[in-house]
Amino acid sequence: MFRKIAISAVSALTLMSGAAWAEGEGATTDVAFSFEGPFGAFDEHQLQRGLQVYTEVCSACHGLKFLRIGALAEPGGPNLPEEQVKAYAKNITVTDAVTGEDRVATPADHFPPNLAAGAPDLSVMAKARKGFSGPYGLGTNQLFKGMGGPEHIYSIITGFTGESKEIAGVTLYENHAFPGGWMAMMNEALVANQVTYADGTEASLENEAKDVAAFLMWAAEPKMMTRKESGFKAVLLLGLLSVLLYLTNKKLWSKVKGKKLAH
Ligand code: HEC
Repeated sequence: MFRKIAISAVSALTLMSGAAWAEGEGATTDVAFSFEGPFGAFDEHQLQRGLQVYTEVCSACHGLKFLRIGALAEPGGPNLPEEQVKAYAKNITVTDAVTGEDRVATPADHFPPNLAAGAPDLSVMAKARKGFSGPYGLGTNQLFKGMGGPEHIYSIITGFTGESKEIAGVTLYENHAFPGGWMAMMNEALVANQVTYADGTEASLENEAKDVAAFLMWAAEPKMMTRKESGFKAVLLLGLLSVLLYLTNKKLWSKVKGKKLAH
């Protein structure tokens, strides 16, 4: 009886502390991304490299259906020249929502979904997964390191052991970052030097994984920079307001407080 209670208490605690994700299965490596922290910002060159990895590698199996192609030209994101975005769109085929027919995409279209390989859409993956959590209560980890969504993607890509097994005709690949340890994505989905970066960055597996994870974080939250900026402005204004209120309060009461009461 007591043992049972103790065991459930321990498992409840384990669940609450997120240890089920952090240790053993679903191990997430922390990566210091440029966009973390209250003043962090996306590195547009990294986002451009990540777009390249996504386009040349991941899009073969994954979709990005909530991201508008034209967003690639927006400041705060990859910030590509309009002409380049138009040319990028020309390489994509989408199904027209009105006619139901396939046609060449324009920047106003979304990236297409991809149902071929049974792979999940990556539009919001970086926000849907929590790589690490805690310490509870203060939220300091989240403030400075983020929730670990892009770290989860990085860890998945770099987490394959090379082992595979077949279950009921499906090949599963061992991956320490995937809960359960075995996933249907193949271990060589991304390898070193799979892309050639135009800016001379070394295409090591770690760099490719970091770049595509950063790109997918931006894809999940293209307005992150605007959000942080307005948050900062709001805090600044509230601070100013507090000072003014303090001074007004002091002035209003000065007459009363300054006067010595006659006995
Ligand atoms: C050959 C096809 C293929 C390619 C290429 C591929 N994936 Fe996947 N991916 C899959 C499949 C299939 C799954 C579903 C795995 C499962 O649920 O077991 C998956 C799952 C994922 C997940 C989900 C993990 C989770 O927490 O659920 C992420 C993240 C991911 N892929 C990222 C990428 C990235 C980034 C790239 C490009 C570098 C990529 N994939 C390339 C097939 C692919």
